[in-house]
Amino acid sequence: DGPATMSPTGQATGAEQESVAQGGAYLTTAQGTRLPDTDHSLKAGARGPVLLQDHHLREKITHFDHERIPERVVHARGAAAHGVFLGYGAAGEVSKAAFLAKDVETPVFVRFSTVLGSRGSADTVRDTRGFATKFYTDEGTFDLVGNNIPVFFIQDAVKFPDVIHAGKPHPDREIPQAQSAHDTFWDFVSLHTEATHHTLWNMSDRGIPRSYRMMEGFGVHTFRLVNAADESVLVKFHWKPKLGVHSLVWEEAQMISGTDPDFHRRDLFDAIEAGAFPQWELGIQVFPDTPEQTFEGIDLLDPTKIVPEELSPVRPIGLMTLNANTKNYFAETEQVAFHPGHLVPGIDVTDDPLLAGRLFSYLDTQISRLGGPNFAQIPVNRPHAPVNDMLRDGMHQSAVHTGTAPYRPNTLDGGCPFLAGADTAAYVEAPVRVPEAAKVREAPASFSDHFTQPRLFWLSMTPPEREHIVAAYTFELSKCHEQAVKERELKVLANIDPQLCEEVATGLGLPAPAAAVPLVPADPSPALSQLGGTWPAD
Ligand code: HEM
Repeated sequence: DGPATMSPTGQATGAEQESVAQGGAYLTTAQGTRLPDTDHSLKAGARGPVLLQDHHLREKITHFDHERIPERVVHARGAAAHGVFLGYGAAGEVSKAAFLAKDVETPVFVRFSTVLGSRGSADTVRDTRGFATKFYTDEGTFDLVGNNIPVFFIQDAVKFPDVIHAGKPHPDREIPQAQSAHDTFWDFVSLHTEATHHTLWNMSDRGIPRSYRMMEGFGVHTFRLVNAADESVLVKFHWKPKLGVHSLVWEEAQMISGTDPDFHRRDLFDAIEAGAFPQWELGIQVFPDTPEQTFEGIDLLDPTKIVPEELSPVRPIGLMTLNANTKNYFAETEQVAFHPGHLVPGIDVTDDPLLAGRLFSYLDTQISRLGGPNFAQIPVNRPHAPVNDMLRDGMHQSAVHTGTAPYRPNTLDGGCPFLAGADTAAYVEAPVRVPEAAKVREAPASFSDHFTQPRLFWLSMTPPEREHIVAAYTFELSKCHEQAVKERELKVLANIDPQLCEEVATGLGLPAPAAAVPLVPADPSPALSQLGGTWPAD
């Protein structure tokens, strides 16, 4: 195949990905010199020593020695596919993003993942699943880097290294927390009660999906949309699978982990190969962009909270179809680089402190994972919009930039069309007012209710779903060695629901503590009206 097409600035555009068949009438070195033989090294006599001068031997082995790159620090195990997103035009009133307009088709690449396991771990473990989508829009790349659970463990990104250290394999014997020494994970979540909501979703059937094709996806954070008149709203993004949401039961999940650790990866690939293309509708919950950034008393900047769909229905705005498998796992699934800061005009971030840390973290980690700052030139990461970015040089630079030095304004390069503010199609951050306030480290009071929403989730479960949750907590906590950790987590469960706490305590052979916070009533409707409560954490 020929080289990728060049954009006006000399960079290959992502629309044309190079595929190299590695076939032909003869073999060559990496320099194109024909080889007579790739099966034998050069020796001084048939049984003599191998000669250092054998460039082909050294080139072949050296390249092999460097075939692996570091796995992702989280979400290391994944599976991905290509597809297309079709805009319904239903978001036009709230966002000027061109790819959301009616009947606009945008290529997408989606990577699903587990969070904690290594690259070779099993698919059906109990964990959160990543659901990251790259939209190659005409206005630049938009990445929606979400999960299959709508809330997160922590409210501040400064805690992210801590929660991951607590959940990853035990440092001395590298045995995954998810299967063996559970103490650190349960120590962390029982000490950080903001993690209660996410942990409860993990212990529910949502933690063991039947298939990537049968998972919801959530942007988790609240985002800000801006329309053509520069009016803004706050939104939460939702992916709803056309096949519905389905889970495994724990016994199935465990058996499949042994018999087919690639279960989810295989399922996705086989379905697409067979033409059974999975589909999701993208939807938004829309809230007024008020200075308080709350809705019905819920702090929209708190990533441990949902907004119940009874209070704000999800409006469908487009349809995604995954219709093509990857051709090369390494080139595409392994090298793809998502970033929550990849935004297009009409979509902006909010001041959620977890999101702020993510906006720093992804580019930073990818510089080491993908070997320098030029990974946007890797085919799967190339925007489909023209690129003119003023970035130069660096490791693995593949563009041959020409012209004078990249600075603006610049009177030496034939005139300067780039006057600040002149491009009306450019991305401009929403002019949100930043409150005048003293610098503080403490969390806002509106982040302090850690139990109302977990309780609502529990109350919304059917009896078999509750049985699964009780069994999951009992099984996982029974793996802890530290009695104090189990007892502290039982106190957390008491603040969700007495029945949940009692049944898990019975399973563990421990006494059930009483709740330390007032519990919202069991009837979900009055409970909903109390969502905005600010009860203190344990
Ligand atoms: C990777 C989601 C919070 C750091 C990922 C991936 C997803 C994801 C889906 C996999 C991307 C892929 O498939 O390549 C989320 C969600 C979060 C969250 C939904 C919270 C709502 C955070 C936070 C941090 C973080 C708070 C750090 C402060 C990372 C890093 C990677 C990653 C370093 C690896 C990226 C790479 O190597 O390409 N996350 N994450 N995440 N996330 Fe997050």
